[in-house]
Amino acid sequence: MFSRGNTSEKARILNLPTLKAEQLGCPPEKTSAVDLYAGIGYFAFSYARAGVKHVLCWEINPWSIEALRLGATRNGWLVTVVGKIMELKTVADRGQPRLTILAESNEHAWERLRKRRSRGFGPPVRHVNCGFLPSSEKSWETAVKALDPAEGGWVHAHENIAKNDIERRQAEVVQEFERLVVQVYGPNHGRKVECEHLERVKSYSPHVIHCVLDIAITPVKTPAS
Ligand SMILES: C[S@@+](CC[C@H](N)C(=O)[O-])C[C@H]1O[C@@H](n2cnc3c(N)ncnc32)[C@H](O)[C@@H]1O
Repeated sequence: MFSRGNTSEKARILNLPTLKAEQLGCPPEKTSAVDLYAGIGYFAFSYARAGVKHVLCWEINPWSIEALRLGATRNGWLVTVVGKIMELKTVADRGQPRLTILAESNEHAWERLRKRRSRGFGPPVRHVNCGFLPSSEKSWETAVKALDPAEGGWVHAHENIAKNDIERRQAEVVQEFERLVVQVYGPNHGRKVECEHLERVKSYSPHVIHCVLDIAITPVKTPAS
């Protein structure tokens, strides 16, 4: 968690062009982001600082949850903690939280996000962070489901990849996301899946690089749609 590489990735997220109105198609203040491995908030705080209206943070470690809550409060953001591990709805009466910490495994994320969507709560989710090593693959199905079905968005998938295997693994990751999009939306899903960028965050061990793949999942809009 406390590494120089995470600091550069935090700064990259903060300045992502895909968090600006031009690429989002609306101001970030009209969007939500999901961090499925929020830790102490390295990436979650970057989304909030970039203007995202609501950041939903899944985290299972009670120490990290408390650090996340404190950090958010010190940034002046309203934060509420709900979930299977603990509940701290202390700010519920002071307005809409900027960050919601879900104190539970992200295995429960889709059931919550599905209810949130069906009830029309909160702005659409346009970014999902999957920050887990050596691979965040277990969370990708949830990430695909979490993105707004009408507008799509970006999944930031963290992976440790052998230095000499990056190109092959990148193609494999895209293929896996394509498979998941078919699984979630059916064979005629009408979506483009591509890796817009692969960030080499840091050397994890002599021959292994911590990479982040920015996977864009975009509904293809026909002139009539
Ligand atoms: C590598 S850390 C990343 C943290 C964050 N990006 C940061 O830099 O602060 C991964 C985090 O995911 C949490 N985690 C692991 N499995 C999880 C799960 N199934 N659901 C939610 N959080 C999980 C761990 O407790 C840890 O804090």
